[in-house]
Amino acid sequence: MMNAALHSVRVQFPGVSYEVRIGEGLLGAAGQEIRSVCGGGSAAIVVSDSNVAPLYAAALCASLEGAGVRVIREIVPAGEASKSLDMVARVCNAMIAGGLDRTSFLVALGGGVVGDLAGFAAAIFQRGIPYAQIPTTLLAQVDSSVGGKTGVNAPGGKNLLGAFHHPAIVIADTSTLATLPQRGFCEGMAEVLKHGVIRDAGLIVEAGALAHSDRAALIARNVAIKAAIVADDPEERLGLRALLNFGHTVGHAIEQAAGYGRFLHGEAISMGMAVALRISQSLAGLPAAEVQRTLDALRAQQLPVQIPADLTPKILLPALFRDKKFQSGRIRFVLSSSLGTAFVSETVTEHDIREAIVGATSEP
Ligand SMILES: NC(=O)c1ccc[n+]([C@@H]2O[C@H](COP(=O)([O-])OP(=O)(O)OC[C@H]3O[C@@H](n4cnc5c(N)ncnc54)[C@H](O)[C@@H]3O)[C@@H](O)[C@H]2O)c1
Ligand SMILES: [Zn+2]
Repeated sequence: MMNAALHSVRVQFPGVSYEVRIGEGLLGAAGQEIRSVCGGGSAAIVVSDSNVAPLYAAALCASLEGAGVRVIREIVPAGEASKSLDMVARVCNAMIAGGLDRTSFLVALGGGVVGDLAGFAAAIFQRGIPYAQIPTTLLAQVDSSVGGKTGVNAPGGKNLLGAFHHPAIVIADTSTLATLPQRGFCEGMAEVLKHGVIRDAGLIVEAGALAHSDRAALIARNVAIKAAIVADDPEERLGLRALLNFGHTVGHAIEQAAGYGRFLHGEAISMGMAVALRISQSLAGLPAAEVQRTLDALRAQQLPVQIPADLTPKILLPALFRDKKFQSGRIRFVLSSSLGTAFVSETVTEHDIREAIVGATSEP
């Protein structure tokens, strides 16, 4: 196969080392490689969802079978609702019924929902079996497939149940992005631009063009950013990994307050970034021109940066204070003083957030 633009990034820190491979058309030829990095077992489960499986499962399964692996499949309904303990049980029961054991492995084929759910099933089945991530959304390729956070939602909140369980390999096949709806691609660009704000100012201006000209290079650059941050703080104990939450404090509140289905995650994060940029300007000295440059880059991806008038501070603030990022009543807010760098601040007040929300509601 012609593969001029194959990129490889290694996620590495004590006790963990795995490759993220990025390129066009990788998925149908990955079977042997996946088998060998997942312990060489002869049986596997491919977990996917109802949108992705009809498009890509056959090629992946054929490649695994060609490598001598007996493959069973479990297809969950597409959508966030599948990130549940019930669905974890369904995947685990399929593994038991299919005769999988400790020598078997799992392959997660899909977006962040499948990756988080299947990764968690791999973490707990027989106290943990190896797994591969085959992310098929931009968000999953630049963000959720890397870093080892797995888990599901509980009735009381998102991502409340989970485990750190790193994949043995991540294979980001950029050709899968061709079937992603435009809106789904754009929401992934919110995480790309977030990476720009916290680590790579050049991305803010270059990401849009790269998304057209060289997606593999764009994804590799983002994976390298996430990999470096994860390696510095694998289990989010030092506050470094928390930098990845830029825009997410208010973004999560918007997601929650707006209700399921109104905004995609990346769209809510884009509005959350608009608020975080304003607070960065007023409290951390982020130059107004850098704020505008970032807002322009978000707009260029058709991402919203203006908060709708119905999502008032009165509605958003309570949702924000329920967020798990508020440790013992102190607000931990990620700010940037200059594009490409970020820090966790504990001095942001409720008043500052309110002002910035009002600002992001009135200004287009
Ligand atoms: N583990 C982490 O570190 C981490 C980080 C960020 C987000 N997440 C989680 O990721 C999830 C969101 O991920 P997502 O945005 O990928 O959502 P998703 O998995 O729901 O995928 C979005 C939609 O696109 C469809 N789809 C996926 N790939 C496709 C393709 N190639 N062609 C056509 N359709 C396709 C899916 O079926 C789904 O309907 C959330 O649950 C979030 O909590 C986890
Ligand atoms: Zn996010």
